[in-house]
Amino acid sequence: MSRKPAVLITGANGEIGQSLIVALTKRDPDVRVLALDLKEMDSEIRPRCEAGIVGDILDQGLLDRLVSEYEISTIYHLAALLSTRGEFTPETAHQVNVQGTLNLLKLGVEQSRWHGATVRFFFPSSIAVYGIPIRDTRNTIDPVREHNWTIPITMYGCNKLYCENLGRYYTRHYKQLAAEDHGRRIDFRSIRFPGLISAYTVPSGGTSDYGPEMIHAAAKGEPYACFVSEETRLPFMAMPDAVTAMVQLMQAPAESLSRVVYNINAFNPSAGEFADRTREVFPDAQISFEPDLQRERLVHSWPASVNDTLARSEWGFSPTYDIRRTFDEYLVPNIKKRYS
Ligand code: SER
Repeated sequence: MSRKPAVLITGANGEIGQSLIVALTKRDPDVRVLALDLKEMDSEIRPRCEAGIVGDILDQGLLDRLVSEYEISTIYHLAALLSTRGEFTPETAHQVNVQGTLNLLKLGVEQSRWHGATVRFFFPSSIAVYGIPIRDTRNTIDPVREHNWTIPITMYGCNKLYCENLGRYYTRHYKQLAAEDHGRRIDFRSIRFPGLISAYTVPSGGTSDYGPEMIHAAAKGEPYACFVSEETRLPFMAMPDAVTAMVQLMQAPAESLSRVVYNINAFNPSAGEFADRTREVFPDAQISFEPDLQRERLVHSWPASVNDTLARSEWGFSPTYDIRRTFDEYLVPNIKKRYS
């Protein structure tokens, strides 16, 4: 069977995956997307993919079949169990988030051995890798740089931080004592995303979910009880900026990158400001605040703002959506269409 160059996307049916597939196939209609997810692909996204594979990243047999059938040049490994869900089943989170990532890195190495070229590997990391120990500290410290405060308090944050290190290891030091040269099998690149907001999908199992949940509930005419207090501030980003950033980072020449993981930052509303904007565009929105102190504690361990100087200077990150434009030009028109 002839092997076809393809882009493998895991977690393809999720919040980031769906938007990424639309963006990649718009940019290059000939790109061959292998969409892997636990669920069937959304019926509107599926026609954009060469294959929609329902399966588990922990299923080694399935991954072996992919290796034998396709030539994979690029991997976007988006599948993960998010931070709230991870606190209910920490060991499962570790399996999915760490063992799953290791499986995909191994798949990348095997692919690279076959076709001889480096496999580019994108990994979505998160502001959850940070852990700010004292709640008040987060409001007084400078925007956090990549190497500060990396002492996460969630299983998800620990998993993401370790996988960043795994990616760095596979890119720079893989089997460094072996006689065979394993240099540059994998070129791993990662972004620590803030809370992401999509007009098309609502995330599940995360802790920054109150942002997207609030606006989707308002659009559907449903009441929403926000699980953090009005004062709680967190970085958020509109999905189009997140997807553009992924594509930009993946296209950047390797020589311009000094590290494997980068912060990016767009806007940082408090939950109260988020609610105010939602009420401006959906005047009938019924939003109340009923903080869940345990869940809020996770949010309070994450930085209110991150420093993204390196992403801007090394690969040209520049967000185009502030909170106003996110609501007016992206969320409102698309969400209204979706629920009308
Ligand atoms: N949005 C994720 C979560 O809330 C953090 O990366 O779990």
